Amino acid sequence: MKNRRILVTAALPYANGPIHVGHLVEYLQADFWSRFQKMRGHECHYICADDTHGTAIMVEAKKRGITPEQLIDGVWKDHTKDFADFQIEFSHYSSTNSKENRELCEEFWHAMKAKNHITTKPVEQLYCNHDQMFLPDRFVKGICPKCSAKDQYGDNCDVCSATYSPNDLKEAYCSFCGQPPVKKNSDHPMFQLDHFREFLLQWLPEHTTKEMANKMKEWFNEPLRDWDISRDAPYFGFKIPGFSDKYFYVWVDAPMGYISASLQFSKKLGLKFEDFWKSENTEVYHFIGKDIVYFHTLFWPALLKTAGYRTPTQVFVHGRLTINGEKMSKSKGTNIPARNYLNHLDPQFLRYYYASKLSHTVDDFDWSESDFTNRVNSDLIGKITNLGSRGAQMLKKKSDGLMTEMDSDGQKLFAASAAKSEEIAALFESRDFARAISEIRGIAEETNRYFDEKAPWKTLEHNLVETKKVLTTTLNIFRMLSIYLKPILPIYTAKVEKLFSEKSYQWSDATQALSNHLIHDYEHLAQRVDTEKVKAMVEESKPKTATVPIQNPNQKLSAAPSAKAIKNEISVSSPDSGEIEIDLFSKVDLRIAKIIEAEEVIEADKLLRLKVDVGPLGTKQIFAGIRSAYKAADLIGRHTLIVANLKPRKMKFGLSEGMVLAAGAGGNELFILSPDAGAKPGDKVK
Ligand code: 2FM
Ligand code: ZN
Repeated sequence: MKNRRILVTAALPYANGPIHVGHLVEYLQADFWSRFQKMRGHECHYICADDTHGTAIMVEAKKRGITPEQLIDGVWKDHTKDFADFQIEFSHYSSTNSKENRELCEEFWHAMKAKNHITTKPVEQLYCNHDQMFLPDRFVKGICPKCSAKDQYGDNCDVCSATYSPNDLKEAYCSFCGQPPVKKNSDHPMFQLDHFREFLLQWLPEHTTKEMANKMKEWFNEPLRDWDISRDAPYFGFKIPGFSDKYFYVWVDAPMGYISASLQFSKKLGLKFEDFWKSENTEVYHFIGKDIVYFHTLFWPALLKTAGYRTPTQVFVHGRLTINGEKMSKSKGTNIPARNYLNHLDPQFLRYYYASKLSHTVDDFDWSESDFTNRVNSDLIGKITNLGSRGAQMLKKKSDGLMTEMDSDGQKLFAASAAKSEEIAALFESRDFARAISEIRGIAEETNRYFDEKAPWKTLEHNLVETKKVLTTTLNIFRMLSIYLKPILPIYTAKVEKLFSEKSYQWSDATQALSNHLIHDYEHLAQRVDTEKVKAMVEESKPKTATVPIQNPNQKLSAAPSAKAIKNEISVSSPDSGEIEIDLFSKVDLRIAKIIEAEEVIEADKLLRLKVDVGPLGTKQIFAGIRSAYKAADLIGRHTLIVANLKPRKMKFGLSEGMVLAAGAGGNELFILSPDAGAKPGDKVK
């Protein structure tokens, strides 16, 4: 068999939040496949990176009061830990915010220009004067132009599913500050995708499944639209050379991360980078979800071709995960973060379960609690693991631990099971993991039948020689199954290697039988799924509290904001006791602020308008109901405490962007809270 050089990638996860079980569908199947290739003796590298740029990251960082760099550093650590704990073995895990990635973007940009694929067009976008940023579709809300539902996003309506442009929304407002956005024009460089029409039409059917290629053909019924590859400042990303206020759109530098990660890892391993992205001798495979096909099968090959890089060998597209037949949902606790899973359950269960459901198609697949428990407990533990545990413990405890040879029925069974080796390998190769598992389970069922018929526990006393032959067969087939399962259960199989005192298994080891071989002590391989733990995991994944209610931007601030008001804003996790969890409290961003301006609000006799300095968070305007207790002028220069992440409220007289904390009975007995000397504006209350 010819040795292949293979590069595998999985889509780069956004660095604005944790990995959840839905993401793992992809990272796990690409891991199964890469591990399988390595077991077949091929050189296979599985690389990935965090996708770190764009508005969502910028906004998330702002929300947390940190820089985007701090956000992506922290998320990188969390992601890599989650992946490692799920036994996902990357050759290299990078970040798109790297020097190599910036240089690649610039290289591609120069190639796009040199080959005349760039044109410039005016683009009208919504802009928030208050936040001083262009608002991507998801950050504009308003009334659906079709069904008039309120508070719908700028791209589609959750109520009637209509899709539209943010310009069509009625009474549009910025989702951060509630102010109506304005329309602004700016010139954007565009990539002329239609230049690649013929190339793509030919490329597509050869580089993805028939099923996908047929669907994609529809895109070519009309000219391929120019692709807007830039975003205006402020934006977290790479600047486009020659522009002072334009950045590469995140979808330009994200796939570039596949190449920059390869650059870094080839340097790390002393390999030649050109062998991966400039040579057809390497096979390059992208694993992606069906929602990002457009980027990977149109833009990406066109960009690669422009810059003189090779295109992927295949783009493997998978479906989505549903849970109990429904879309994953935060409120039902089914949008399960990887970490919550790990807090309760063995990662091997999920690896096995996903493998038992995955195929090469784009069909969605469902995780139901009973199916999950059943497949792990009844198949992996009850059928497969039991062969090893019963066989090994009987041989070790009731005899001398020496495998002898197989009896004649056993030899036949072993030969029939070994004959399936290439068939199972072909199923792994074609990513039909579920069918591979089903073959493996079938062999386990046959072997259990053999074991039960031979009933070694009965013959043990009077015919040890024959009994040992039965146990030898059972253990040999168990060993074979563990080798077939190694891409899916590497830790499990490592324990099996130890049981038989063997070196790391390759696929070809499966068909060799052991004889006259001493086994080690049996080490527990896997426990059954405890359904209580599944329930606990779901419980942990439910929102702990109702969050701060979504604000109607036109709502007035009626009561005097005070410390008491904070409590009223946030519903508590335990309505009976009034107690809250610490993580609810930590969501409240309390900061030290210095009052730098204060004045009476003419239209509202209870309110003062304050301008406060919140250090790195800048300045904020707050309307505070403390006029009955303070003269405006007396407050200037004082330090106080504010809630800095309260959703801004639009009021008749302006925007209120936080809340000053005060205590007391009210009227002239209202006291704003002050820190001891030394606390600086922007300091976080801990
Ligand atoms: O859809 C996503 O989650 C993107 N972060 C995937 C990027 S894949 C690649 F192109 F970088
Ligand atoms: Zn705004």
